[in-house]
Amino acid sequence: MISLNIEKTLGFISKEKVAAYEAQVKEAQEALENGTCKGNDFLGWLHLPSSITQEHLNDLKATAQTLRENCEVVIVAGIGGSYLGARAVIEALSNSFVWLQEKKNTPTIIFAGHNIGEDYLYELTEYLKDKKFGIINISKSGTTTETALAFRLLKKQCEDQRGKEMAKKVIVAITDAKKGAARTTADKEGYKSFIIPDNVGGRFSVLTPVGLLPIAVAGFDIEKLVAGAVEMEKACGLDVPFTENPAALYAATRNELYKNGKKIEILVNYNPKLHYVNEWWKQLYGESEGKEGKGIFPAAVDFSTDLHSMGQWIQEGERTIYETVISVEHPTHKLEVPSDDENLDGLNFLAGKRVDEVNKMAELGTQLAHVDGGVPNMRISVPTLNEESIGGLLYFFEKACGISGYLLGVNPFNQPGVEAYKRNMFALLNKPGYEEESKAIRARL
Ligand code: PA5
Repeated sequence: MISLNIEKTLGFISKEKVAAYEAQVKEAQEALENGTCKGNDFLGWLHLPSSITQEHLNDLKATAQTLRENCEVVIVAGIGGSYLGARAVIEALSNSFVWLQEKKNTPTIIFAGHNIGEDYLYELTEYLKDKKFGIINISKSGTTTETALAFRLLKKQCEDQRGKEMAKKVIVAITDAKKGAARTTADKEGYKSFIIPDNVGGRFSVLTPVGLLPIAVAGFDIEKLVAGAVEMEKACGLDVPFTENPAALYAATRNELYKNGKKIEILVNYNPKLHYVNEWWKQLYGESEGKEGKGIFPAAVDFSTDLHSMGQWIQEGERTIYETVISVEHPTHKLEVPSDDENLDGLNFLAGKRVDEVNKMAELGTQLAHVDGGVPNMRISVPTLNEESIGGLLYFFEKACGISGYLLGVNPFNQPGVEAYKRNMFALLNKPGYEEESKAIRARL
């Protein structure tokens, strides 16, 4: 089970000030439980782990099996909350080099629909030309342009290459129960479909079919993932004392740091497999808290890689930052530094040590240097990377986000700001219904 350590923030903020959040955090937790908080129509994620049924998991696993048996490649089309959770889990658990398809019956997972890159889509369609591929089309609204555009291209290619009947078998929709173009298409074409519950927002949807189906297709154990989240749901429950509740403590500490001028939180990992956990976290906190002129800016780095790029700024730049480090205690594999008779590289002092020991000393050395440089540090320890720990980590961040948004006084479950670019883009592209906006925007150019 993951654990949180805030000791290295306490030279910057006081333990007493953090403890003083206890009542407010309780109020936030009660408001989430009782559905009396802002955005209370989007609280379906709160007890999602413990309410997932075996029947639902079986349905997901059976659909995943159909895709695994009939596809060399599966394209997961989605953006934002409809893509980042699946990618975070799959990349955290996958071998970094071995193509997944080398595992029996496991297709390669490729993500699309999260950009509008013509070259990306061209190269993807070229790559797929000789492949037996399927598609998981994920969109809660069913109308997101990036995803819809990719799906239009991929659906046609899948039908052309594999025939209409096989395409029906290997295209799965994950969308709203009733509304949106993705629902209309799925119903008309007869695709297998899963519903994204109305009361679960995109960035909180990793434990719905949005995350679970792609993760199952990639060959990972969704029962264990959910079990890890259930355990964390208990560990972050209303009845758990404030100091023992990691979500409560994390929410309180980051809000106290924010009050003390630490406006930017940098999520740090020391394991390249966690890059997309960082990306998922950025969306979760950025979209949930950045509104009404407020909110901690969520940034992220991969160490030690980024110590050679962002390290300078973090050590000596403006002192408005703090770090939250995700530290994986035990790697999955063992690799020792070999001894070398000539020692031309001068590395014999490391001979016999595990690579992870070097990494851990980089982590410890960095923590001490950054704290000395005025950067408060929190540390989240993850025992090892597996389905249970990742499930727990994701739920921990979700629960803390709900509490933290409440402490900040915003509605953490809406995202009104993301509509602004869409309105302008539709006006510039002359989308029907945007005639007035088109005139107005063109007058500004
Ligand atoms: O968290 C959110 O609500 C967003 O990031 C959405 O997930 C994202 O915009 C994709 O939306 P949709 O699933 O409707 O295509």
